[in-house]
Amino acid sequence: MIDIFKDKTKLAEAFCEELLLLSANRDKVFLALSGGSTPKIVFQTLVKDYKSKINWNKIHLFWGDERCVPPDDEESNFGMTKKFLLDSISIPEENIHRIRGENNPDAEAKRYSEEIVKYVPLKKGIPSFDIVMLGIGEDGHTASIFPNQMQLLNSDNFCEVAVHPQSGQKRVTLTGRVINNAKEVIFLVTGKNKSQIIKKILVKKSRKFPAEFIQPVEGNLKYFIDSEASELLGKE
Ligand code: 6PG
Repeated sequence: MIDIFKDKTKLAEAFCEELLLLSANRDKVFLALSGGSTPKIVFQTLVKDYKSKINWNKIHLFWGDERCVPPDDEESNFGMTKKFLLDSISIPEENIHRIRGENNPDAEAKRYSEEIVKYVPLKKGIPSFDIVMLGIGEDGHTASIFPNQMQLLNSDNFCEVAVHPQSGQKRVTLTGRVINNAKEVIFLVTGKNKSQIIKKILVKKSRKFPAEFIQPVEGNLKYFIDSEASELLGKE
C-alpha cells in the first residue's frame, strides 16, 4: 500500500496514529526504529502530540540498524532517538533495547540477536516485530542492507555486521528475514532527493535495490511517502 502525504508532518502524524492504535489494542508493542534523519519528524510529532496519548509502558523500542559508534556520537541512531524522543517521554529503561554501537560489531550482532529473541515473539522460529520502521537511501539501501551486500537479505542470522560502501563504517543491521517476518513494515520516505529511487523501486521495479526485496511474508507492507518524494510517480 502506498500513501502519499502533503508534507512530512502529515506523514509523521499518520505513523503516530498507527502506533497509537496498535498500542491501544495490545499489552505490548515491539517496534524497530529506523535510523537516519527521516524519523526525526516522527519523534518530534510523538513528543508534541502523542506524548500523553500513548502508554509508553507497552512500547518496546528496538533499532533496525545502528552505526558502530558510541551512543553519544552524532552518527548514532540511538543518540538521535534519545535527543528527539527518549529524553522527552517517560518510557521504562528496560523497554529501550539499543544496539550497543560501542561494542565489537561481530559480538554485538550476536548479542543483539539474543536480546531480540528474549523479548520479541517468534513466528516460525523468527522474531516477528509488530512494526518495522524503515527508511530508504538514495542508493536503495534500507536498514543497513546496501546494494553491494544483498546477501544480508537472506542471511540465516537475525542480525549481521554491514559495511557502509562509501565510508567503510561498520553497522549492525537486522537481516531481511527478520524484517520480512514483521506484522507490518512501514517505509517512511520524504524529500525531493528520494524521488528518483522511489520511481526506480515502485514504478520500474528494477530488482536491483535492497528495499525492493522487503516484502513481509505474511505481514503488511506500507509506503508512507511525502509529495516531494513521490513527484516522479505516475510520470514516464
Ligand atoms: C541508517 C538508516 C538508513 C536510513 C536511510 C535513509 O542508519 O542510516 O537506518 O537505512 O533509513 O539511509 O536515511 P535518511 O532518513 O537520512 O534519508
